[in-house]
Amino acid sequence: MPLCFEVLTLFPEAFAGFLDSSIVARAQKNRLIDVRLSNFRNWTANKHKNVDDYPYGGFAGMVIQAQPVYEALGQILDDGNAPVIYFTPQGRPLNQRILESYSTYDRIVLLCGHYKELDQRARDLCVSDEISLGDYVLSGGELAAMVFIDGVSRLQPGALGDIDSARSDSFSQTGLGFPCYTRPEVFMELSVPDILRQGNHQEIAKWANEQAKCFTQSRRPDLTSKH
Ligand code: ADE
Repeated sequence: MPLCFEVLTLFPEAFAGFLDSSIVARAQKNRLIDVRLSNFRNWTANKHKNVDDYPYGGFAGMVIQAQPVYEALGQILDDGNAPVIYFTPQGRPLNQRILESYSTYDRIVLLCGHYKELDQRARDLCVSDEISLGDYVLSGGELAAMVFIDGVSRLQPGALGDIDSARSDSFSQTGLGFPCYTRPEVFMELSVPDILRQGNHQEIAKWANEQAKCFTQSRRPDLTSKH
């Protein structure tokens, strides 16, 4: 059974190009994943189909009402229980470990906010995890949901041509990864390191390991203790 991502968003059209491209498109075609998009505006109780309202307390911006989100999720979860992830800068920062932890589920609900925030009661009642892409504010959770779908989809067995390319991906095992080269051997007077052309796989693995350590130490010293 494919891993099903149930996406709740006010902008389902934002996913079009993404779902039609590259590994995510192929994973859908090969029935490794399925992505269902629902617009929670369809669950509003008011005749103007408004989903947002002014915040209590007189703050700036708008807040998405709890009712359409609560009812949309209720209907989606009627088909079977699943984790509900809400994307917000207030969530825990996304990393490879989190993607790996979700890669074994068969259904995941992704809730994308927009405008200022989602009514806290919808978060309290419905959401099982909150995830942030980083310490910056985007206009909505759609980009974060796409990042999440991409990162989890490529971990599905068979999604990549060569599973080794996922295993040796940056972060999985080797910190930031190592520098890569392809033909030609010399480009703008810069040569491919000799060791990569000599075919000694043990030496090459050692080189790659050392390079990965250097990359990680110089660029992301915060990661060195984790690898
Ligand atoms: N929605 C708005 N900003 C976000 C962020 N940084 N991460 C995840 N979702 C968001």
